[in-house]
Amino acid sequence: MSSEVTVTEHLLLQQKRAPQATGHFTALFHDLILCAKLIHRSVSKAGLVDILGGTGEINVQGEYVQKLDELSNRILLYRMERSGVLCAMASEENPDVVRVSAAFPRGDYMLIFDPLDGSSNIDVNIDVGTIFSILRRKPGKTGEVETEELLQPGCEQVAAGYFLYGTSTMLVYTTGQGVHGFTLDPSIGEFLLSHPDIRIPEQGNIYSVNEGNWPLWDARARQCVETFRNGFGKPQGCSRYVGALVADFHRTLLNGGIYMYPPDSRIGKSRGKLRYLCEASPLAFIAENAGGAATDGTQRILDIKPTSLHARVPLFIGSRKNVEAVQRIYSGETK
Ligand code: AHG
Ligand code: MN
Ligand code: MN
Repeated sequence: MSSEVTVTEHLLLQQKRAPQATGHFTALFHDLILCAKLIHRSVSKAGLVDILGGTGEINVQGEYVQKLDELSNRILLYRMERSGVLCAMASEENPDVVRVSAAFPRGDYMLIFDPLDGSSNIDVNIDVGTIFSILRRKPGKTGEVETEELLQPGCEQVAAGYFLYGTSTMLVYTTGQGVHGFTLDPSIGEFLLSHPDIRIPEQGNIYSVNEGNWPLWDARARQCVETFRNGFGKPQGCSRYVGALVADFHRTLLNGGIYMYPPDSRIGKSRGKLRYLCEASPLAFIAENAGGAATDGTQRILDIKPTSLHARVPLFIGSRKNVEAVQRIYSGETK
């Protein structure tokens, strides 16, 4: 333990390099980590207590809410409102912006999260995670936060990351200065630096997509999937699909390849399934900072300005060369 780097130590070192740092960002992270530990505790006991299954409700996305979705959301909203450094939050599970009550000190950070990604996997003990994006209020803005203030393109994120509740619990984050991974040592309750400066391989033959959606795809999406199925530099492709974006992304980040959720013809989902602000944008920020890329087919994910809190986008994310191949297909360059 003596030579291990804790996440707090790592954050403080990074903050030292920013002379204008106030300590607010470190405080925000501290509370976020506490939330993740609380969620980890519940997820790891999920089979033992009455926490599996659905609440019987349907969320703003039209999807069934799992009990652990709701619990994770409550933990984050409750704790983070008390962090003293936020003015607003947005969650996959809440239709509108959650403004920090005047009863608490406020700061100028805004936090967006998917409290539990991959929640349909909970009941079968497969990895889930929490994805987060940190934005800053524009200088000069005061008073009640307007929804529009959260609709920033991903390139303006201050930081982004995720907690993965997997075989071990991990935190992966970036502030735009490299991507760093930490593993929770449950015996001491600390996240320790285990994956410094993660770089995604520039090309890979692993492709991750729900191929059951084949009949719903257009010709270009099918061509993308076929390209990677055929190997992409290797004799054959290798398919891996957990069905939890955060887990599929984590594998892609470490092993290379591509994760895809192309647009499909389902009613209301023609622009893709995944949410821009709490899923695509934070993971695209991580991918790019690790040397990878992310596109919706035609546009860089980080350049997209979302039109609403729950806007959805197609997503192709992973190794740079794989993503470039998708862009060539969508531009019509590769027939
Ligand atoms: P969430 O659990 O937050 O609603 O997200 C589910 C998402 C994402 O995690 C995953 O990659 C994708 O849905 C899987 O969708 P399909 O079941 O349509 O493949
Ligand atoms: Mn999700
Ligand atoms: Mn979710």
